[in-house]
Amino acid sequence: MRRTIVAANWKMNGSVDLVRDLVGGVNSGLATLENAVEVVIIPPALFFRDVQARVEIDRIALGVQNVSQWQAGAYTGELSARMVRDLGGAYVLVGHSERRQLFGEDDSVVAAKLAQVLASGLTAILCVGETLAEREAGAAQQVVSAQIRTALAAVQGDSWNQIVIAYEPVWAIGTGKTATADDAQAMHQMMRGLLAELDAPAEQISLLYGGSVKPDNAAALFAQPDIDGGLIGGASLVAEDFVSICQSA
Ligand code: 13P
Repeated sequence: MRRTIVAANWKMNGSVDLVRDLVGGVNSGLATLENAVEVVIIPPALFFRDVQARVEIDRIALGVQNVSQWQAGAYTGELSARMVRDLGGAYVLVGHSERRQLFGEDDSVVAAKLAQVLASGLTAILCVGETLAEREAGAAQQVVSAQIRTALAAVQGDSWNQIVIAYEPVWAIGTGKTATADDAQAMHQMMRGLLAELDAPAEQISLLYGGSVKPDNAAALFAQPDIDGGLIGGASLVAEDFVSICQSA
């Protein structure tokens, strides 16, 4: 059975005070959660240890938003996948559209980062998604499928167990516009078919939706057969909203 996952991408937000309040709120909100969702908190790396020290719920795993494409060495300012592993992290976002667009990460960088994550024994949450122009041109599926093919070209065997994919249409991120449950499901179904074509254990791989997931739209999205949870930005910064989304999973 594939896992249901709800992951909180805090992006470059937060403070020592927010970590205390938010993790405290999530701890108490999730204490009585009855479903089987796995929750992942992905704070800015500087707060990783602080979040880790405050988490009290077994089902919560931790991740980071980015790692270097290199293993170790003279790369000032970078953080390695091995360090994340060393600190007890489990997940790494790879290829988030903000990294692709604002930091020039192309497919080859994304693939190199993914390789580091896999080699370190961590799970990659590979983010893919089309821009508004690409969707309007009718190229959404083609763009997403090309992103998946390039990033995952070298994955084989048991390494597929370390892959989660998040479909995040760029036009839905931070905009309040969400893909309809039907549109998101259509893309997820395509992605699962593509994974099967790539000889991946497609039915075992969790496919998350991200892009303006909120308490009022989460249940409809998560009810789709190929949507196995969400990658949450803005709403993950409000404990009550994030807990409510976890309850919908
Ligand atoms: P929002 O939920 O703020 O749209 O962000 C989605 C996202 O980019 C998560 O990685």
